Amino acid sequence: MSKHWQTYEDEQHILWLRFDRNDTSANIINMEVLDELDAIIGGLSASSSICGLVIESEKSAGFCSGADLHYINAQLAAQKDILDFIDKGREVFAKLADLPIPTLALISGTCMGGGLEMALACRYRIANADQKIHLGLPEVQLGIVPAWGGIQRLPRLIGAPQGLAMVLSGRAVSARRAKKIGLVDLLVPQRQLKRAAIQTILKHPPKHKRSVLQSFMEIKPMRMILASVMRKQVAKKVSREHYPSPYLMIDQWARYGSDNVKLQMASADDIKQLLAEGGTARNLLRIFLLREQLQAAGKQSDFKAKHVHVIGAGTMGGDIAVWCALQGLYVTLQDQTPESLCGAIKRAHKLYKKKLKDRAAIRDAMDCLIPDVAGDGVARADVIIEAVFEDVKVKQALFKQLEQRARPDAILATNTSSIPLGEINTVMQDPSRLLGIHFFNPVAKMLLVEIVCGDQTDQKQIQKANGFVHQIKRLPVNVKSCPGFLVNRLLMPYLLEAVRLLEEGNAARAIDKATTDFGMAMGPIELADRVGLDVCLAVANHLAPYFKHEQVPKELAQMVEKKQLGVKTGRGFYYYKHGHVCSKIEAVASAQASQLMAERLIFRIINEAAACIREGIVANGDLLDAAMIFGTGFAPFRGGPMHYIQSQGKQQIRTTFAALEKQFGERYQADPYFY
Ligand code: NAI
Repeated sequence: MSKHWQTYEDEQHILWLRFDRNDTSANIINMEVLDELDAIIGGLSASSSICGLVIESEKSAGFCSGADLHYINAQLAAQKDILDFIDKGREVFAKLADLPIPTLALISGTCMGGGLEMALACRYRIANADQKIHLGLPEVQLGIVPAWGGIQRLPRLIGAPQGLAMVLSGRAVSARRAKKIGLVDLLVPQRQLKRAAIQTILKHPPKHKRSVLQSFMEIKPMRMILASVMRKQVAKKVSREHYPSPYLMIDQWARYGSDNVKLQMASADDIKQLLAEGGTARNLLRIFLLREQLQAAGKQSDFKAKHVHVIGAGTMGGDIAVWCALQGLYVTLQDQTPESLCGAIKRAHKLYKKKLKDRAAIRDAMDCLIPDVAGDGVARADVIIEAVFEDVKVKQALFKQLEQRARPDAILATNTSSIPLGEINTVMQDPSRLLGIHFFNPVAKMLLVEIVCGDQTDQKQIQKANGFVHQIKRLPVNVKSCPGFLVNRLLMPYLLEAVRLLEEGNAARAIDKATTDFGMAMGPIELADRVGLDVCLAVANHLAPYFKHEQVPKELAQMVEKKQLGVKTGRGFYYYKHGHVCSKIEAVASAQASQLMAERLIFRIINEAAACIREGIVANGDLLDAAMIFGTGFAPFRGGPMHYIQSQGKQQIRTTFAALEKQFGERYQADPYFY
């Protein structure tokens, strides 16, 4: 008797196998699921009456989302050997692939990771044309490799160049694309799925085969050439030291090729090495689970906004409005003049064209974004977000008015980067209405949103804000109001230290490279340019009095005076054209100098992170790590600042602080947290 699989034999003696994991909303694979599938396949091998097998899903979420990461995490946490699970999956799917009868996967919705590996072990795949379908092997994004046969079967089916590109990027393809490249055999409307499956099983047409050219790519000399090209491409994005999994996949494929089953065995061995304690994969797995935790926090509120009003159509306000309209909300966008709204409308069109492609969908999204210079939307909106200049007086004047005009139940939020709510809400009749909904730049890319709670903020509004952020597909992290809140409080000393390094004569490129080598998504100098040097200066000025040993570098103020504000004016620390850095001259620093720069910069973040935990600005270290990774691109494979502290140990961190303090002064005094 199966808990997770239902079987049914039809009159043509086709066995229908319905996957319906009984304790989760999506189909995900754990050991029990594999054991049961193994038993069913074993029974089939012994049966002579069954003429074919169709695997389908009973879940609305889709076919199968892959291996159960909670199960893997629990096994690892209990120090249990994960190899049993890996081997079991590989063996069961091998048995499925070896069945002498035709087998078919009927795919609706999500078909990812282990789910696609199961489908690949079937002889045929038919996809539902009436549903949005994602097919992919995203294991690389978790720092591991597809070890249930996908690494071998995918390139063997659709050719190595396409197959390995999918595996190495982890990106999913749509059903239409999957049909084009031969990953699915048929794409049929929902109402014809069953008939198409039966016909395919009964007639068993020849299965898809890669082309002659694709087969040619499998011969050893071609494999060597392709592998070398792929290694170079991967190296442009990640280093072998920090992200070994794509390199291991290329190495093993170059060694064995997709026609050799040893490729599967090698991948299973690689997993053990990749999942070692403290390694990249363990940290990425933790980040994945943290992301789920943040999503779950957002789901706790059933608040749903229909109308959002955004005030200030600059870098942030414009992008917040554009993003909310893309999520189907009705958005009114207010600024001082009609001209100041133009930039946001242009950016909206560009983003919608990229994301939606379809003309009708682009038009619908554009229709949701309404220019509103008079601010008529204020009286009707469910959520009002202020994103005007970082000036407490301007913000106070605005909230004084908003409070009078907004609906009594509307969320009143500021997107301020640094001003504590207690400084803005002093002019309000009901200060409990004000909270912070703090987005990160660029809004369409950065998943994090800080929900800022002041001393007086109404908790019900905070709950609603969590629901709103979840509704617009961002990740909420709840923080207490303090200067800079959480992320900017950690970032500011880091950015100021970077400017100090510049003033000491180091090249901007060398400083940025030191931190990207550490694993940051972007160096601090470019980050400052992208945030806007005026915003950085305003935040720095605001935070400086709170940091004992901090002075705002003169260079920053001088650049703002000269209107060299970063990307938005085409010039900051770098020159920019169409949003990209122009100067390509590489600056080199010695390995030792580079390491010291990275240490100086990262330790500024770490000290502030420790202080925030000590002061209870955020509930725990996990949330702090998630905020820094999803809000700033802090090296994900290092697991976040608090995880870094944990991996180094307080003793080691204290020693490094002592050395830095001796050389660079009191700003490197280790926080009391470390004692
Ligand atoms: P910005 O200078 O690009 O845009 C500000 C906009 O507000 C301008 O279009 C201006 O015309 C408008 N404005 C000013 N006073 C107004 C009023 N009374 N009524 C209507 N519109 C008014 O500034 P940016 O960078 O968008 O920053 C806005 C806020 O978001 C600031 O509080 C900033 O600290 C915060 N923030 C900025 C981030 C960044 O990366 N730039 C990141 C996160 C928050």
